[in-house]
Amino acid sequence: MLKFYACLIWTLSLGLDVLSQGDMVVPTPSRVVQSKGVHVLPDMLQINDENLPEYSKDVLKQWVTKELKKNLLFNAAGNDITFQRLQNVPADSYTIDILNGIKISYSSDASCFYALQTLFQLVDREAGTVANCFVSDQPKFAWRGMHLDVSRHFYTVDEIKRYLDLMAHYKFNTFHWHLTDDQGWRIEIRKYPKLTQIGSVRAQSLVGHASNNPEVFDGVKEEGYYSQNDIREIVAYANKRYINVVPEIEMPGHASAAIAAYPELNCLDTTVKVVEKWGVFEDVFCTKPQTMQFLKDVLEEVCQLFPSEYIHIGGDEVPKAHWEKCGNCQKTMADHRLKNTHELQSYFIREMDVFLTSRGKKLIGWDEILEGGLSENATVMSWRGTSGGIEAAKKEHFVVMSPTSHCYFDHYQGESAKEPLAIGGYLPLEKVFHFNPIPDALEPYQANYILGAQANLWTEYIANVKHLDYMIFPRLLALSEVVWSTNKCDYEQFIVKLENKQLPFLDEKGVNYSTTHRRTKTEVVEKNGQIKIVAKASNPNWTVEISSKGKPSMAGTGSSFYDLKPTNFPMKELYRVETKDGETVVGVDTVVINNQPFLGKKWTISPEPSEHYSGKGAVSLTDGIIGSRPWNGKEWLGFQTDTITFTYDYGQDGRHNTIELNLLEASSSWIYLPKKIRCTYYKANGKKRGSVEIQAYAERIGFVQKKAKYAKVEIQVIMDDKIPAGQPGEGQKPWFFISEIITLP
Ligand code: ACM
Ligand code: ZN
Repeated sequence: MLKFYACLIWTLSLGLDVLSQGDMVVPTPSRVVQSKGVHVLPDMLQINDENLPEYSKDVLKQWVTKELKKNLLFNAAGNDITFQRLQNVPADSYTIDILNGIKISYSSDASCFYALQTLFQLVDREAGTVANCFVSDQPKFAWRGMHLDVSRHFYTVDEIKRYLDLMAHYKFNTFHWHLTDDQGWRIEIRKYPKLTQIGSVRAQSLVGHASNNPEVFDGVKEEGYYSQNDIREIVAYANKRYINVVPEIEMPGHASAAIAAYPELNCLDTTVKVVEKWGVFEDVFCTKPQTMQFLKDVLEEVCQLFPSEYIHIGGDEVPKAHWEKCGNCQKTMADHRLKNTHELQSYFIREMDVFLTSRGKKLIGWDEILEGGLSENATVMSWRGTSGGIEAAKKEHFVVMSPTSHCYFDHYQGESAKEPLAIGGYLPLEKVFHFNPIPDALEPYQANYILGAQANLWTEYIANVKHLDYMIFPRLLALSEVVWSTNKCDYEQFIVKLENKQLPFLDEKGVNYSTTHRRTKTEVVEKNGQIKIVAKASNPNWTVEISSKGKPSMAGTGSSFYDLKPTNFPMKELYRVETKDGETVVGVDTVVINNQPFLGKKWTISPEPSEHYSGKGAVSLTDGIIGSRPWNGKEWLGFQTDTITFTYDYGQDGRHNTIELNLLEASSSWIYLPKKIRCTYYKANGKKRGSVEIQAYAERIGFVQKKAKYAKVEIQVIMDDKIPAGQPGEGQKPWFFISEIITLP
């Protein structure tokens, strides 16, 4: 009853008439034409299997008997379900025609399988009926990927199979299997047995966030690897489901586990162990001939095991410090006339490209492989935003889009305080749903180089399947709309599909999905200089009330707001947001406002923050919200420039004794404190009144100017040019993140 009620209101909320099952399919088919009436499925389905590919036959049988709980007979004369293979139609397209029977036409074995996945969603199993309709469908992108890091935490063969099953149901076709990293080598290589004997075991793991000080470890061994038989079993399992498995063997960085097993692969004569914490580490593969040969031997076995055309060689986050000091690497540079270590990295990748090409494979790597020159046949996986992908597509190389901004499922999907510990970032369901893998910067012919997109799941903070499910679902469904659908529904309808059809399906499968999208969305916004708390329920029929110190605002149906007034002195104010379904409380939220005299006033900012971290613009600095830690994208303004200037012009004599900045330091996300901050005060006539400069050493910085009058204040932030060696993002421009500027009278 509860479910039915929920279903009814989710439907009404959209103002739609009765929704049919055809409106509930995820990913949305290219076309669904609904007609009147339903087709009743008989208790014994007679299925014509003349044109039914073998695996689809198994899948159909399983579904009819186990899920639909009916019987079936494969029979050349049967006409309850018939199949037809079509030539000269788009790749992987299919149609389903339902009227008195079910007729499926398809262009490939894969698309017959996809047609069945759609059919399973169309059928009302309880009623044993399927609405009359016509569906035609084809994929938008050829690369529809999900990635899984099994190095930081190991997942068993059965757990991987379950992951593949869920991917296949939502029409994903690429599994990027991240098999090696600093914290564990997980693939058996016959020629080098110590890789798994030593490299697949780490003594313990970090507890809590990598930025915590002091570091705490759990003292629990983490181990596991896939034998070559396991690998073959998983590859076959995936291929049956039309999923290509792309293995990743990380090089030249993220190599500590391999170096722990074979210390001679290192540049320096130091002891290396399988790493027990999270980050980027300086022990990378040396470029000497023995190491290059070792890697080619490894790739030789990998090429044998994986039928995939693409082999991923990593290439990301390579600290160059050891290469700079290593005699062997200096010799490689001299021998090959390489000017710097970026060119050395490029040389390294090119060697692997030549090797893989000679084995009939294609190299794919993270976008760092662009640095120092992109190898001839390489495909680029763009993760540090989309710019690497744009550059590669313009150079006519293939690209898979996987930017942190939209595709990192290890990032928070809601406010960090209410979510399980994650690395950081903020990627709500809606943002995944709205991702467009084709950047505006590309000409149509260049856009053809974008093969598709994939989400990445790094597992530093994800130690079991329950948590893994939570990070992936329902964001995977939103991504399926992005990569499959040529006719994506709107977000409101997507939520209706989730609530009515897809989440109940995931319940049946025992998937522990997140319900963060159901939370009341509480935001602090500015309108005409007024700061308000605005709370919007995910269901428009629920009531929302915002109160402070027991004093409520007006309760609203679907949403409510509360106007805030600046205080003379900085102070913390607590607001409570309560959401009710009738008399039942369905959610309680609290909002802490750091009120101040400048609440809602706008500083001028130059240059503008990055489009990825632009918050709500200038008002983010005075909206009363201090950014949380681990950081959560929406609360911060982020810049990747040498200097950033914040100005407040009082227009006449005004002053504040203290100005406090709230900054962020998160080196694992390339976010650094400034090198210097200079605060300059001006008189009303424009003349400089004085200035104070401080080295930024903390996340909270205050400038004090007691008793001085001034009319304008300018805060100039000066950043270091480069992220220091040995840190994640080494050599890149550091990011500057600021959440608030607070003034004291
Ligand atoms: C990556 O996230 N380091 C590719
Ligand atoms: Zn070396």
